[in-house]
Amino acid sequence: MEKRDALQKLERELINDMSLPLREANLVFGEGNTNCKILFIGEAPGQKEDELRRPFVGRSGQLLNKMLEEIGLKREDVYITNIVKRRPPGNRDPLPHEIEAYKPYLTRQIEIIKPTIVVTLGRFSMNYFLPEAKISRDQGRLFRANGFFIYPIYHPAAAMRGNSMMAEFRESFEKLPKAIARCEGLLHKPATND
Ligand code: URA
Repeated sequence: MEKRDALQKLERELINDMSLPLREANLVFGEGNTNCKILFIGEAPGQKEDELRRPFVGRSGQLLNKMLEEIGLKREDVYITNIVKRRPPGNRDPLPHEIEAYKPYLTRQIEIIKPTIVVTLGRFSMNYFLPEAKISRDQGRLFRANGFFIYPIYHPAAAMRGNSMMAEFRESFEKLPKAIARCEGLLHKPATND
């Protein structure tokens, strides 16, 4: 099955899943290039995302687009989604049971897309792959977990809150092309017996 068809099928399943929390909000499934090298995973949609049913289209999204441009990429080159695919009321943080409920859909979405690298935005999506990781310590470092390369960085909203975080956020973006090259190198390394 083509990736697009598989994702559409998954989206239909999600729409029909009456057990999911936050069903009063609109579904923001994710969008972008299904043959991407980079898959970005945020937290949950905000108000603008809920209105437009698209991920990262508010202020955080503008910063994400700008950072992508700075490293020579366009939004259309990457795929963008969230762990929780409906907006929590009042933009509060997603609750553990909401993250748990949407997890299987995110897992399948990643398995369909098969990106070279997963860039997690903020601690919620980082902890999905790396439960022990600390965002201030581990952002900008490359990890391997659940068969994927994971590159955690700050959430754009957090980066906008403080100058030092913005500098680290930008630096981590600048290191992203190198991180991808490293993943590709590791993937293509022939297996050895030693
Ligand atoms: N913040 C997120 O985590 N996701 C979005 O889609 C928008 C803002």
